Amino acid sequence: MNEQLNIYLNEYVPRIEAYLKGMSFADQVGVRLAAPLNEAMHYSVDAGGKRLRPVLTIMAYRLLADDWHRALPVAAAYELVHTYSLIHDDLPAMDDDDLRRGRPTNHRVYGEAMAILAGDALLTEAFRLFAEEVEAGPEIIVKLVSGLALAAGRDGMVGGQAIDILSQGKTGQEKIDQQSELLEILHRRKTGAMITGSLLAGVDLAEGDASLRSRLAKFGAVIGLAFQVADDILDEVGEEESLGKDIGSDRELGKLTFVSLFGLPEARLKLAELHRQAVYLLEPLGEKADGLRALTDYIVERDR
Ligand code: IPE
Ligand code: IPE
Ligand code: MG
Ligand code: MG
Ligand code: MG
Repeated sequence: MNEQLNIYLNEYVPRIEAYLKGMSFADQVGVRLAAPLNEAMHYSVDAGGKRLRPVLTIMAYRLLADDWHRALPVAAAYELVHTYSLIHDDLPAMDDDDLRRGRPTNHRVYGEAMAILAGDALLTEAFRLFAEEVEAGPEIIVKLVSGLALAAGRDGMVGGQAIDILSQGKTGQEKIDQQSELLEILHRRKTGAMITGSLLAGVDLAEGDASLRSRLAKFGAVIGLAFQVADDILDEVGEEESLGKDIGSDRELGKLTFVSLFGLPEARLKLAELHRQAVYLLEPLGEKADGLRALTDYIVERDR
């Protein structure tokens, strides 16, 4: 199991890093005035992070094919959209945070306007990658575009972020079962959708069948939820240094989270239950899924 995690850390992540670093956001026509935009984009993308979403794309692809380098542009597209979501999530109008990926947040360095625009440009860049860099036929490209739009948009990450903001400060006002339903929808959208999307993108690129797609969609929903439950727990009990981001923001802003609604012990039980469900969903895939198994363990045990 640990060996699989080593492959993640030593093989996939460096290649993803190299791919992202190699992407030039430099201005094609050399308009020097726009240089801060390019810098702001690189600042957040190159700052590291766990690269979980691109690794999921690669691992899903590898269930079906060995030439995983082919999945790099698709994997990178998910990481660019994820990075944009982090830049916007930290803005004063949203979570108003100062630290991200171990560095001052994007707007702290480049100002709010440039941070908003860097996010916008990263989102757009992801779709350009699909159109120009992915080696696949038009039908597959359309599937990938549609998958990313679904994961990132109104019914996915952005929709979840909207619920997150709208439910802020309202905890305790509604009955717990109503809140708990809302919380699950919120988490499934704001975090689960991009995690599921990144897995399905790997399957779609490798032309996997409907049954694998549906299994991984369920698996993605479960680990996506687990990932956000762990994130909620870490916001409460994590260390700023290992996390590389501010802690205690959820409590400060009155966010609806697993911890605020049910308390820490219950949130930990929920995480363990989701871990069991995820492992169960991988069972029929056998040894091929050892990478995804290791990642499932990592998602619930992580401290960053
Ligand atoms: C943080 O995502 C935001 C959430 C969706 C919870 P990650 O914890 O994957 O952040 P990075 O990419 O490692 O910085
Ligand atoms: C944000 O959730 C999820 C995104 C879509 C970026 P959080 O607001 O909990 O993420 P962190 O804790 O700031 O990384
Ligand atoms: Mg947030
Ligand atoms: Mg936040
Ligand atoms: Mg959080």
